[in-house]
Amino acid sequence: MTVSEGTVIVTGATRGIGRATVEAILSRGGKVVAIARNQEALGALEASAADRVRTVSVDFEDVARVPEAAKRAIDAFGSVDGLVNCAGIASYEPVGAITLESIEAQVRVNLVAPLLMSQAVAEHLRGRGGSIVNVSSTLSERVARTTVVYAATKAALNTLTKGLALELASAGVRVNAVLPGGVDTDMLRTPRLRPGESLTAAQLDERVETQLAALAALHPLGRLGKPEEIAAVIINVLDQTWQTGSLVTIDGGLSVA
Ligand SMILES: NC(=O)c1ccc[n+]([C@@H]2O[C@H](COP(=O)([O-])OP(=O)(O)OC[C@H]3O[C@@H](n4cnc5c(N)ncnc54)[C@H](OP(=O)(O)O)[C@@H]3O)[C@@H](O)[C@H]2O)c1
Repeated sequence: MTVSEGTVIVTGATRGIGRATVEAILSRGGKVVAIARNQEALGALEASAADRVRTVSVDFEDVARVPEAAKRAIDAFGSVDGLVNCAGIASYEPVGAITLESIEAQVRVNLVAPLLMSQAVAEHLRGRGGSIVNVSSTLSERVARTTVVYAATKAALNTLTKGLALELASAGVRVNAVLPGGVDTDMLRTPRLRPGESLTAAQLDERVETQLAALAALHPLGRLGKPEEIAAVIINVLDQTWQTGSLVTIDGGLSVA
């Protein structure tokens, strides 16, 4: 049995890439423990496949709650075979406008929470084997303006991936990262405003369309990725039996542009 046919914890499960990953696992006959904040969205997910979905609601900014949330997730079906750390947030701030609040939020959600989740799940998997996939970003290796903090958290997540892979290999636990380029999700549909800028609703919509088109044009394949295209790579990496410590890029050619 592959990991994706077993029981997998997916964080950031309510939207975007995490949601597509949940659907990919369910389509393979696997079970999912879905983690996010939005209880209504989690409830709808559970209702869609009640016998194969359990949910845990937690805000990863509250990092003290992560170990207990991990325990509840592991216990939901009695055991798990894998973990996909997909929850993530990005703030778009030019240098000079970066706030301590946004640094702390991004470090907590993008780095501390995946570390604490991985540690708890790795202890559960120790000796039995299993697989962890961290969802990083091409920005961890190819920086862009206004996302320096986000990029730094994802670069740290890459290093965390390699360190965990080394330490957990003898326990039979594989740890890899997937690095997407731009993917059409809510994360990219947040209008990026200059400090102090205020726009009408129509202008905000226009701004989003402009920024999506500009981002798509950066990718040699000429478009943004779709969440299900990233989910397919996450599942593939989750299931590879001789792969650990790898950073796997899926980015429409962005890295070679
Ligand atoms: N979209 C891209 O272009 C892109 C590119 C490279 C990498 N990535 C990475 O891919 C991952 C998924 O991104 P996405 O584009 O699918 O994002 P998204 O559509 O914004 O979804 C983010 C998910 O994370 C959850 N989440 C956010 N803040 C949370 C918190 N404080 N506590 C718990 N859960 C939280 C959200 O659920 P709730 O709101 O219900 O909590 C949601 O399910 C992220 O790690 C992101 O950095 C995205």
